[in-house]
Amino acid sequence: MKIFLDSANLDELKKGMSWGIVDGVTTNPTLIAKEGRPFQEHIREICGIVEGDVSAEVVSTEASKMVSEGRELAKIHRNVVVKCPLTRDGIMATSALSKQGIRVNVTLCFTAGQALLAAKAGAYIVSPFVGRLDDIGYTGMDLVRSITQIYKNYGFKTQILAASLRSPTHVIDAALAGAQIGTMPFKVLDMLFNHPLTDRGLDQFLKDWAKVFQEAPVAG
Ligand code: E4P
Repeated sequence: MKIFLDSANLDELKKGMSWGIVDGVTTNPTLIAKEGRPFQEHIREICGIVEGDVSAEVVSTEASKMVSEGRELAKIHRNVVVKCPLTRDGIMATSALSKQGIRVNVTLCFTAGQALLAAKAGAYIVSPFVGRLDDIGYTGMDLVRSITQIYKNYGFKTQILAASLRSPTHVIDAALAGAQIGTMPFKVLDMLFNHPLTDRGLDQFLKDWAKVFQEAPVAG
C-alpha cells in the first residue's frame, strides 16, 4: 500500500519525506486554508518537496467551472492530481477531465454506489472517508472492503485511497482490505513506528553491547 500524507504543512512533508516512506500527498481546502498561503504557489512548493502524486482540490461546485479549475491545477506540476467532490457536477467534471488525460481523485466518497460512479467516470483515484463514517456510527472500513470487491469484480483500474484514517489500526485495516493507497495525518504516520517492545529491546541490546565493547563497530 502506498503511504500518503494528508497534510499541506511543509515541515511535516519534509520530515515524512526524510524517512523515505512517503509516496504522495493529499490536501483539501481545509488543510490548505490552515497554511494561509496562496493556493497554487503552495501546491507548487509541495510538488518540489514530495516525489509522487499531490492531490489538489477544486473549490467550484459547477461542472464546467470545476473543469476549468482542474485544468489550471493540473498545469502546476505533472504530479498534481485534481480532486473533485462526489457530486453530480463532480462526476461530470471527472469524466470530462479524465477524457482530457487529467488524473482525478474523486473525494468525499461515503458509499460503494458512489465509488462505482467514480470508476465509471474514469477516476484515477477514489477516496472513501473511513473516519468520518466511524464518527457517525458506521464501520468506515467496510466501505473500503466493499469497493475493493466491486472494483475487482469488474476490473476497474481506479485506485482506492483510504482517507480520513485516524489511527495506526485504520492504516493496517486499510492495507488488509486491499486499498492501494492510505492517506494519513503526520501524527498517525509517526505513531506507526512505535512499539514499547521495540524501545525496550533496543535498550537491552545497547546495554549488553556496552558491557563488552566501548564503541560501535566502524562500518567497512
Ligand atoms: C483526504 O483526502 C482527506 O483530506 C482526509 O483524509 C480527511 O480526513 P478527516 O476526516 O480526518 O478530516
